[in-house]
Amino acid sequence: MIRVAIVGCGSVSRHYLSDLKTCEYAQVVALCDVVEERARERAEQFGIPRIFTDLDEMLSQCEFEMLINLTPMQQHYPVNLKALQAGKHVLSEKPFATTLDEARTLIETARRHGVNLWAAPTVVTSPAFQCMAKLLAQKAVGDVYVARAWYGHGGPSWGPWFYQKGGGCLFDLGVYNITTLTGLLGPAKSVTALMGTAIKERFIEGQHVKVEAEDNAIVLMDHGNGVLSCVMTGFVYGPYHDERTIELVGTKGSINLLGWDWAPKGVEIWDAEAGTWKVICEDQKGYKWYQGGSYLAWCLATGEKPLMTIEHAFHVLEVMLAAKKAAETGQRVEVHSQFSAPWL
Ligand SMILES: NC(=O)c1ccc[n+]([C@@H]2O[C@H](COP(=O)([O-])OP(=O)(O)OC[C@H]3O[C@@H](n4cnc5c(N)ncnc54)[C@H](O)[C@@H]3O)[C@@H](O)[C@H]2O)c1
Repeated sequence: MIRVAIVGCGSVSRHYLSDLKTCEYAQVVALCDVVEERARERAEQFGIPRIFTDLDEMLSQCEFEMLINLTPMQQHYPVNLKALQAGKHVLSEKPFATTLDEARTLIETARRHGVNLWAAPTVVTSPAFQCMAKLLAQKAVGDVYVARAWYGHGGPSWGPWFYQKGGGCLFDLGVYNITTLTGLLGPAKSVTALMGTAIKERFIEGQHVKVEAEDNAIVLMDHGNGVLSCVMTGFVYGPYHDERTIELVGTKGSINLLGWDWAPKGVEIWDAEAGTWKVICEDQKGYKWYQGGSYLAWCLATGEKPLMTIEHAFHVLEVMLAAKKAAETGQRVEVHSQFSAPWL
């Protein structure tokens, strides 16, 4: 049984806690939020014995193995750092840091303290992702040189921080498709991008919020050997079809993801022999985008090697920061980090 504590008891904590409640390998022992009422409400809802309003107090007074960080993006680095320094495994919501220096410090701190650091999203653990990775490895549609993905919505109606410096649609939403496409096509070697802030002010939690981060982004990745991909993301999207949100086009056919990569519904492939589309992998075996805590508790308890790696999350962060730089300067920006693909 892995003892878990959660920091940040806002919107997403409800989903994580409902999933952890059904996990036979995890026991949530404490919750922390700077707003006491939020921690108390979640504790009552899910029967969690202890609450804190101060992370240092939770780290020093409570025994547990893994901290799940569900605070706003701008808080991820300081919270992750404290927990790693206290010798806790950490699962951080995305991105796990907002600069590469911070990210390196966290990875080095985890190594020094002999603990693990992981970051959402968990997309590589879905059956649909694994099915697509297998099809690509088998060259089921020939050689794939081009892919496109998109994910946007109208923007969160809570959390002013989504729109402030250090927030933005790329870190919040683009991160899913970038994780999926680099996971399937391999690390990006360079990136170019266009970004903008279309809606200059939002009305969030009863306040006018000046939008300081991008709310509309298009990122192009060069994966080397002529393999190119495109990710579109934003907080400026009304409802649109969730069919085929990711398309991988090969020389002999295509592989499409049905649904979103965070909520997949199946995989569609061109059956060249039959000359028709075929839908496979419709059973997602209960995959949930908020299963990171239970998945990693299972890995820690059983010794299973997690498919999510911090090297991949670091690469995705480097791609996103390179995209921001590319959009600002109009230049193509190189990306240097690599990662291994345990799903292959
Ligand atoms: N809400 C979603 O649907 C969703 C989905 C996927 C991922 N996420 C990610 O989860 C994280 C949290 O999102 P959310 O929507 O729950 O945000 P939220 O604003 O609803 O909740 C964040 C909570 O963190 C608390 N907090 C802030 N700083 C803190 C600190 N230093 N110590 C303790 N508590 C602190 C706040 O008081 C708040 O209750 C973000 O990284 C977000 O990108 C959210």
